[in-house]
Amino acid sequence: MQVERMLWRMQKVTQIRELRQIIRAQRRLGKSIALVPTMGYLHRGHLSLVEHAKGDGVFIVMSLFVNPLQFGVKEDFSKYPRDLERDAEMAEKAGVDLLFHPDVAEMYPQPVLSYIDIDELAGVLCGTSRPGHFRGVCTVVGKLFNIVQADKVYFGQKDYQQYLIIKRMAEDLNFAVEVIAAPIIREDDGLAMSSRNVYLSPVHRKEAVVLNRSLEKAELDIGNGQRNARMIGKMIKEQITQESSGQIDYVEVRNAEDLTELEEIKGKVLIALAVRFGTTRLIDNKVVEVKENV
Ligand code: PAF
Repeated sequence: MQVERMLWRMQKVTQIRELRQIIRAQRRLGKSIALVPTMGYLHRGHLSLVEHAKGDGVFIVMSLFVNPLQFGVKEDFSKYPRDLERDAEMAEKAGVDLLFHPDVAEMYPQPVLSYIDIDELAGVLCGTSRPGHFRGVCTVVGKLFNIVQADKVYFGQKDYQQYLIIKRMAEDLNFAVEVIAAPIIREDDGLAMSSRNVYLSPVHRKEAVVLNRSLEKAELDIGNGQRNARMIGKMIKEQITQESSGQIDYVEVRNAEDLTELEEIKGKVLIALAVRFGTTRLIDNKVVEVKENV
C-alpha cells in the first residue's frame, strides 16, 4: 500500500518542455529545486545524494541520461549498463519527486556546435587518459543547469575532479546553483560504489579492494608524519602492483583545491587513482587535511 502510494508520487518526464512546466509550478508553490544528475544504473552512492538533497520544501529532480558527449570513441557508451525500470523504482523509493530521462534526440536535437570547455583542471588526472571527457560532462551539466534551474546540485566525491570542475564552471559562468559534494559510499569491503563495478570479473572484484586499502594506508602514513607526496604515490603504486593484477593509469597526490602538483603534503590534499582491472577502469580517492606540520 505504502509502496503503491510512493510509486504514484514520482513523476517521470522525458521532455524538456514538460519538465520546465512542472518546475515552474513547483516554484509557484514555494518549493526549492534540488538536482541529482546521474547516468543511471543507480547504486547506494546515488541514493545517498538524494538523502543529502532532502529537506522541507525541496523538490528533488534526478536526471538519468547516459551522455554520449563524455565518452571517447573507444569507451563504453553503448555498453554502459542501463535499466530504466529498476532505476525508476529505486529513485522513487529513495524519495525522488521527478525523474527526468530524456533520450539523446531530446538533449541533442541537432549536431552540437557549442560546448563548455574548462582549462587546467580538466587537463590532469582523468583528463589525461580521457581527452574530451570533461568537455562532454561540462556541456551536459551546463545544459541540465539551464533546463532544471536548480538551487542545489549534488555530486559524489568519488568523481572528485568532476565535482571540482563543475563547481568552478558554475562560478566562472555564474550558474545560480550551489554545487555540493557528498562522501563516497563504499561496499562492505571498501570498494567505492560505481555503476561500472558490474563489469568486474569475480577475481578482479576481489582484487579491486586494494584501491581503498592503499588509500587508507596512505592516510595512515600521513597521520604518522609522512609529508613526501612522491613517497605516498610510490607506496600506493607498490601496494596495488603487489596485491593485484590492476594496471595503473595514475596515482597522484595533488592540492585538493586546484589540483596543482605537490611535493610536500600540507593543507587539503587529494590522493587520487585510476586503475584498470581487465577492461574496467576504476577510480577512487581520499581527501586528507593536514592542519600543521609535525
Ligand atoms: O557522474 C556522472 O554520472 C556523469 O558524469 C554526470 C555528472 C551525470 C554527467 O553526465
